Amino acid sequence: MERKHRWGSSFLLMWLLAAEGVYSAPRHSSSAASSRTQFPPGAETERVLAGTKGFYPTSLEREGHPVRPTPTSTGKNKDPLGLDGLFDALGDTANLPNELLSEFLPGWDKNYPVTVPVSAYKPASADTTTSATKPQTEPETSETSTAEAPSQNAPEATTDTSQTSSQASSTTTSATQSSSSSSASQAQPSSSASLTTTASQTTQAENSITSSVVQASVTSMSGQDVFVPLATGPIPQTITARNDHPVPKKGIENVTTPIETNKFYAGLFLGSQTNTTFTHPYGVSWAKGSGNAQSYGMAISHNEVNVVANGPTNTNIPGNPIQYYINPIGIQHMILSATELNTSTVLTAENLLPFSADAVLSPTPGSSQRITIPLVQGMGFVTGMYNNLQPLIQSGVFFNKVVTASSPRIGIYKYKVSLADGTEWLVYAIPQDGKDPDFRLESNTNFRGPSGWSGTIQITKNPAGASGEKLLDGSSGVFALEAAVSGSVLNGAGTYNLAFAKTGKQLQETPLLMYALPHHVESFDNTTKGRMTSISLRTTTKGNATAVVGETWTMLEPNLPTQMGFDPWTVSSGNVNNLSAAAKQVILSVAPTELNQSIDQQSDLNSMYYSGKALSKFATLIYTVNKLGGNPDLAASALENLKTAFSRFIDNKQQFPLVYDSVWRGVVSSASYGGDSGADFGNTYYNDHHFHYGYFIHAAAIIGSLDSTWLTDSNKAWVNMLVRDAGNSAANDPYFPFSRSFDWYHGHSWAKGLFESFDGKDEESTSEDTMFAYALKMWGKTIGDASMEARGNLMLGILRRSLHNYFLMESDNKNQPANFIANKVTGILFENKVDHTTYFGNNLEYIQGQSIHMLPLLPSSPYVRSQNFVREEWNALFSANATDPASNVTGGWKGVLYANLALIDPASSWNFFAQSSFDYSWIDGGASRTWYLAFAAGQYIPPDSLLNNVANNVAGLGGGPA
Ligand SMILES: *[C@@H]1O[C@H](CO)[C@@H](O)[C@H](O)[C@H]1NC(C)=O
Ligand SMILES: *[C@@H]1O[C@H](CO)[C@@H](O)[C@H](O)[C@H]1NC(C)=O
Ligand SMILES: *[C@@H]1O[C@H](CO)[C@@H](O)[C@H](O)[C@H]1NC(C)=O
Ligand SMILES: *[C@@H]1O[C@H](CO)[C@@H](O)[C@H](O)[C@H]1NC(C)=O
Repeated sequence: MERKHRWGSSFLLMWLLAAEGVYSAPRHSSSAASSRTQFPPGAETERVLAGTKGFYPTSLEREGHPVRPTPTSTGKNKDPLGLDGLFDALGDTANLPNELLSEFLPGWDKNYPVTVPVSAYKPASADTTTSATKPQTEPETSETSTAEAPSQNAPEATTDTSQTSSQASSTTTSATQSSSSSSASQAQPSSSASLTTTASQTTQAENSITSSVVQASVTSMSGQDVFVPLATGPIPQTITARNDHPVPKKGIENVTTPIETNKFYAGLFLGSQTNTTFTHPYGVSWAKGSGNAQSYGMAISHNEVNVVANGPTNTNIPGNPIQYYINPIGIQHMILSATELNTSTVLTAENLLPFSADAVLSPTPGSSQRITIPLVQGMGFVTGMYNNLQPLIQSGVFFNKVVTASSPRIGIYKYKVSLADGTEWLVYAIPQDGKDPDFRLESNTNFRGPSGWSGTIQITKNPAGASGEKLLDGSSGVFALEAAVSGSVLNGAGTYNLAFAKTGKQLQETPLLMYALPHHVESFDNTTKGRMTSISLRTTTKGNATAVVGETWTMLEPNLPTQMGFDPWTVSSGNVNNLSAAAKQVILSVAPTELNQSIDQQSDLNSMYYSGKALSKFATLIYTVNKLGGNPDLAASALENLKTAFSRFIDNKQQFPLVYDSVWRGVVSSASYGGDSGADFGNTYYNDHHFHYGYFIHAAAIIGSLDSTWLTDSNKAWVNMLVRDAGNSAANDPYFPFSRSFDWYHGHSWAKGLFESFDGKDEESTSEDTMFAYALKMWGKTIGDASMEARGNLMLGILRRSLHNYFLMESDNKNQPANFIANKVTGILFENKVDHTTYFGNNLEYIQGQSIHMLPLLPSSPYVRSQNFVREEWNALFSANATDPASNVTGGWKGVLYANLALIDPASSWNFFAQSSFDYSWIDGGASRTWYLAFAAGQYIPPDSLLNNVANNVAGLGGGPA
């Protein structure tokens, strides 16, 4: 299918009027000037304030997360820590207001009612059906063209009729293109030096608006392609299909391809369909009658730092950081709407792809009158493609001033908007018929265009004055429809590209403008760096985004841990598998206690999460004894028991078997079909699949590496099913979406599945996210899937960078607020807020909140947790003089903290785990003392003499086994 569009052809006349200061034909009867103020509305202060407030959903949405991964005592199924009831008592973190708020919004108080009255929402009047399909045609090879530098010349500076004609020809081009994500993802390894990225989307618009041609020239891709698709055939027959998933699809009911459940645009199709899609830096949400504009259009928000609310300071942490910060919800800076949109308006979501989705508003279900708004991560403009409607641009913040500016280019009509909050915005209208749309400001809320109008409207904030305006003018008229990722690894160095499919007007000569996050900018190659602009806008929770021109970005990750295996690993020494004789002796002395635990019992649980943790723990223990201790015989029977325990899952005979959900398309726990959405942390609702399945994949990687006969087709197919579900490399797998968890734009995964949320997607445990990437790498290595192995390595490299930038905050962190970084970890990072708490509760957060970002301790831990970070965190929170010394901590968290200590002080860590008075309650149910000892010994090889002393002191060992 193609997104076919036509431009009107009567641009020639307009061009003559385009140059600033040249045209005198008044576009409005009252004005002969090149720009004209339409409406200085006068004093509206009170209403302005009412319109700017928004609200702050500070309470923690706990769906599916009544508890988070916790140290478990072994062998208990339910409530392993006996903490039932704790969470209700803890309450939420609703501590408002802050000083900033009251200053910015006089009259603010914590009880201020929600400006958007949630109760006023009605359910969507009907679910329209759409014919959205994910294009799956083969990529077409076409000429490539490199991204162009932005025109530094003001477009109005030249009037050139030859340009006009070339434009006319380009606008009639219509291209059939394949899904960019498919094409990029399925590029063959080291196939070619240039990757053609093309795009196609379907719209139902009768009057097509634009023509789309995208050929992104991508940096030479040599090395191992990281996106070679896994087999896309049927899943194991033990998994039965169900079509009664508890979460209904809103506005996408006829889509039969797999749907991304954990991506940024899920608010379009969940619940009220009114929650925000965070494209960064903009947030977009269906107004659905809310706010003072009472609009049914699509609201655009961009929040500056002065409207951010801060939580209370935490006096227990050195530096007294604020506990959280949160952006307001519901401020409708600008709204893309139409006169026809009212209570019967429906929102449908189309072309749901890994980096984009189209939001479509129609006055009535099935109407051909529609506004199609492509939502692409990082988009520089919010663009609405109108079909036969009367456009209405609105603001809930109120227009202070609207100026009709001179056209930046022929056929593009421009308005400069000043809002009552002091921000400057630009509106570009690109009529299909080329005629001046002559928008009129009717009030400080409404700016209306002509009826029966078809064309494109683009809205962007301009934070950078005249120079920003010039750049934005230069990129107006084109916009991204979708994006694709490709990547490769060669000799330990990774490269990945984000390529954006561009469409619009004067496509060839107009550079696309997109916003990059700080971790992109940090790893841009030189060419991409050269296309950065001076325009920067704050994002909600990831620092400042930078506007970059061009259709592709190339990011380099030079230091991938490609050699890392199952052994302890350090940044300086790499793999450490030659533990000293004394260390081995201690390890082998300790091991039997844990090898004799019941693998069967500890993994026969009602939770995929806890079962996976147990299997992964035993696999690691067995590996430690077999390979690091050098005693396969000692671990042999445990290995057999582990295979037996694992087979319960492959046979799908666990307490809550997996089912194939044919509604959203994925493999989920059957636990929540009974009604409890929070069962097993929301697995049925697609929460946390990378955590849950990552542990199984990790365990399987170890089993297969120790015994290749275990790698039967059916065992591999089952494990690969988990990979396909949580981290699929194929964009055209009919069973699973592409990369459900890992977001290749954000550089980390989102854990939240199908739960409607004010604050967007979120992730708590960065260490389990890392575990998933590591598990992919190691499973790929075990089964000889070089692409999967390379993908895991690249994900680890990207995670290291994004965690350093946003989650694991060293004192020089630039992206999180200065008054927040002393928390050292983010706690839970949402798209709209960051809360240094845990789903587990908040009074125990120094231990748990920090530890959630530590466990499980794996060879990859020192790779993502830099020594500098670990030292700062330890000194602030857990050292002898800190508020919460590790020595006072009880239960399984204590073992986690001391294993983490191995990253900076392995001798102390070793001594802790080797001590004669060791208490096994300090070991989390997902870990073993045996592995922790090896982990510590691997970070640093202590002298044999020290180890011998310690060995002699190990409880009940009497100097170790014979
Ligand atoms: C969606 O499916 C329903 C039920 O099969 C059908 O009546 C409707 O026409 C379909 N809509 C579209 C747009 O295909
Ligand atoms: C990128 O630019 C830097 C600084 O100008 C230079 O040192 C480096 O060699 C360049 N890298 C490549 C691959 O050209
Ligand atoms: C957003 O999601 C929340 C659930 O977190 C829901 O209560 C609310 O109605 C949704 N919509 C809006 C606009 O708040
Ligand atoms: C982000 O942008 C703001 C506003 O321009 C600026 O004050 C701040 O220093 C920027 N932060 C970083 C890390 O560049």
